[in-house]
Amino acid sequence: MHTTESSSDRAEDTAAACRTVPTGAQPAPDDTRLGELWSLLPEDSRVTSEGVLEIGGVPVTELAEQYGTPLYVYDETGLRKRIRAFVDGLAARWPNSQVLFASKSFPAVAMYRLAHEEGAGIDVAGGGELRMALAAGVAPERIHFHGNAKTDAELKMALQAGIDTIIVDNENELDRLNRLLTTPQKLLLRVIPGVDAKTHASQATGGLDSKFGLPMDQALAAIERMRSHPLMDFEGVHLHIGSQILDTKQFAEAVEKISTAGTFPTYDVGGGLGVKYTYDDDDPGIDEYLDAIVAAARRHLPSDARLLIEPGRSIVARAGVTVYAVTTVKRTGRTFVAVDGGLADQLDVALTGQRFEAVIANRVTDAWTEIAQVVGRQCESGDLLVDWAPLPPAEVGDLLVLAATGAYGYTMANNYNGALRPAVVFASGGHSRLVVRRESYEDLLALHEPISETTTAANTAAANKAASLPKEDDPHA
Ligand code: LLP
Repeated sequence: MHTTESSSDRAEDTAAACRTVPTGAQPAPDDTRLGELWSLLPEDSRVTSEGVLEIGGVPVTELAEQYGTPLYVYDETGLRKRIRAFVDGLAARWPNSQVLFASKSFPAVAMYRLAHEEGAGIDVAGGGELRMALAAGVAPERIHFHGNAKTDAELKMALQAGIDTIIVDNENELDRLNRLLTTPQKLLLRVIPGVDAKTHASQATGGLDSKFGLPMDQALAAIERMRSHPLMDFEGVHLHIGSQILDTKQFAEAVEKISTAGTFPTYDVGGGLGVKYTYDDDDPGIDEYLDAIVAAARRHLPSDARLLIEPGRSIVARAGVTVYAVTTVKRTGRTFVAVDGGLADQLDVALTGQRFEAVIANRVTDAWTEIAQVVGRQCESGDLLVDWAPLPPAEVGDLLVLAATGAYGYTMANNYNGALRPAVVFASGGHSRLVVRRESYEDLLALHEPISETTTAANTAAANKAASLPKEDDPHA
């Protein structure tokens, strides 16, 4: 679904893809498994006898009441299970291995902690992610540091923290390391394998025009440079061909290509396993993915090599949903259901044309009698969350849950139109806990230098008015 060029093409494709759900499709009254929707929602989800969606045993209505909307909600048990499936699955197939959670997909301190507890190492891309990993108590020797444009300050921080491995991207970075290293440091080199990931252009990084890493011919010179440096402990090569990849042949091809770079102690084959976002997507799943890369590793890599993988999206996407309140329902040329969030908290809709599926969480088992377009509240026409959503007739105040939004949503949340970044909650065993609090208007203003000149009467009145306004966005007001 990521191959089309224009947004109108994409919209048509998505509409066509979604037509497998017939208008008026309705779950049987006693059926709490909502057909295909169920395979998109967190594993630990169910519907109460009142027709309310529960995640981790907590009704979404309660979560919205307690924490407000928009709200990112994660099934904590589901997150733990997915990490374990990767960690145990890879160890069983290739014992000399490590799973590194690609933390850019969901960089919350609580998530770093959880990944660490379940046995994964952490991949960070930048000083901010490094600080969050350390704040979560992740041991530095389980952290790998990425980035195509690392600064001196970040490299110094990584060296000072004593992280395990730096993934070198280019020759300038080697110049920097040459200046900064005072003790031996493990290094991998990111190479461009020249593999078409067959995904959306913005998510493909394995082709020769990628800004990440060095092509094979230039990689050899960089490898020689590291090998001859007394403090550069060159361990091997890294690749990452892209993200949201649904065909495992691409991963196998990448393993084969990377083997041509030479014989090394370590091969890191990146992340990229795709997930099911819409009814029509077909995702390979963790076992098929691991089977594919390990089979290729057995054929092409030294049998005693250390094999690393860096999954992000495939760990966190399905475990997370976003809860919105419906603010507007407009039945004009078509039915528009607008919610109190949008691309400010779900940037992928605009960045990659990603589409999701929706459910009215307070009336899950009501008949789906209407096809709505679910839109956000940001001032962009690309702020379209679901193009063709079979729903019961939505009403203002309904809670709309967008499924499979656990990856790259929170991390790319922004303040477009003055939006406040939503809170993040983990739910499990009938309990919920706040892991990231909602941004407040005070937070929003805190970075801005105050205007000190309030000499005119109008300015003074405006300042007084501002001081009397609520500091928080109160969804219950
Ligand atoms: N390793 C490296 C070096 C990466 O750059 C990435 C993702 C991963 C691992 C994890 O890939 P995953 O398993 O999550 O596919 N904002 C885009 C995705 C960008 C992915 C960036 N790199 C999106 O939301 O689609």
